[in-house]
Amino acid sequence: MAYKNMIMNKTIILKRRPEGKPSLEDFELQTGEIPEAGPNEILLKTKYVSVDPYLRGRMRDEKSYINPFYVNEPVESGIIAEVIESGNPNFKRGEFVNGMLKWKEYQVVNGTGVNKVDPEMAPLTVFLGVLGLTGITAYLGLEKIGKLKAGETLLVSAAAGAVGSVVGQIGKIMGCKVIGIAGSDEKIEKIKKSFNFDDGINYQTSENLKKEIRQKCPNGVDVYFDNVGGEILDAALMNMNKFGRVINCGAISLYNKTEVPMGPRPEGILIKNSIMMQGFTVRDYVKDFGPAINQLSAWLKEDKLKYNETIVDGFENIPQAFLDLFEGKNKGKMIVRV
Ligand SMILES: NC(=O)c1ccc[n+]([C@@H]2O[C@H](COP(=O)([O-])OP(=O)(O)OC[C@H]3O[C@@H](n4cnc5c(N)ncnc54)[C@H](OP(=O)(O)O)[C@@H]3O)[C@@H](O)[C@H]2O)c1
Repeated sequence: MAYKNMIMNKTIILKRRPEGKPSLEDFELQTGEIPEAGPNEILLKTKYVSVDPYLRGRMRDEKSYINPFYVNEPVESGIIAEVIESGNPNFKRGEFVNGMLKWKEYQVVNGTGVNKVDPEMAPLTVFLGVLGLTGITAYLGLEKIGKLKAGETLLVSAAAGAVGSVVGQIGKIMGCKVIGIAGSDEKIEKIKKSFNFDDGINYQTSENLKKEIRQKCPNGVDVYFDNVGGEILDAALMNMNKFGRVINCGAISLYNKTEVPMGPRPEGILIKNSIMMQGFTVRDYVKDFGPAINQLSAWLKEDKLKYNETIVDGFENIPQAFLDLFEGKNKGKMIVRV
């Protein structure tokens, strides 16, 4: 096809495994030919790329719930792509799909592992955010581990971020008091005004986080949805109520550490207050994704759920957008538009 002669394909590979904080030098942009779709295959053009904190874990050569990336191979993440050519009867040219795809502008797949998304139903980016793994993580983390009940106090960290902002709003829909922790006064204003949180704490300026949580949650914390780990988790634990639940969803404050710092030992607090603290991995609950998406779509339609996105333009800027997550530069879901 004519466009293929004029355009080069772009790919971003993991050039080396980051040591500590990742940098742009850990990635490399390469150019090459645009592939052809063979029988039963489809040629996809990347439209929107999700960058996520958990990708940092896949850059380490470590066994985890998901395989590490290979050095000198493309990085992959959640991507919305358009079908450009199809040799597969299940997909038509012009349709859009969502899947775990490579950081390539054009790529050929056989159709397994990608799902069609309907741009009439919601803006395409929403399938990477509220109606994607982000929203599902918030919903199922609260349901399966938080077991949140009306009237309880819910504390959320990275509260202005993609997962955190959905967690807080679900807490309000369920009739809870919701307090968020985030890294700037602007983000605290945002979670109160746009996402209906009752109040928030700026951890960057707080002099005593444990005390401030106590002030904002005078009846203690029943459920803590932890996206960050480290010292914020320590402060939250010291405010948990009897039979409180802690959802260990993420630990972004530790992702770039070469040595995990020693913290207070939590067992005494957990025993005294019969607290349940459990790691959560959304992929353990794939069979529950359908009902979660149905509920999230219903709330979205009823305007009970709002979302924020930070959209960065340009395929080349995917690595920078990823790095910016660790500086808190995103407000809501971080997405790159290609
Ligand atoms: N377990 C699962 O299945 C699952 C699924 C999805 C996501 N997650 C986890 O959930 C968390 C949130 O993910 P997301 O996609 O919604 O990202 P996000 O919250 O939209 O973006 C990350 C945010 O983390 C905060 N942050 C960065 N460095 C920090 C530090 N050192 N200490 C405290 N906060 C820091 C920043 O906000 P501030 O400006 O507020 O610092 C930043 O905006 C991540 O830890 C992620 O790994 C887990």
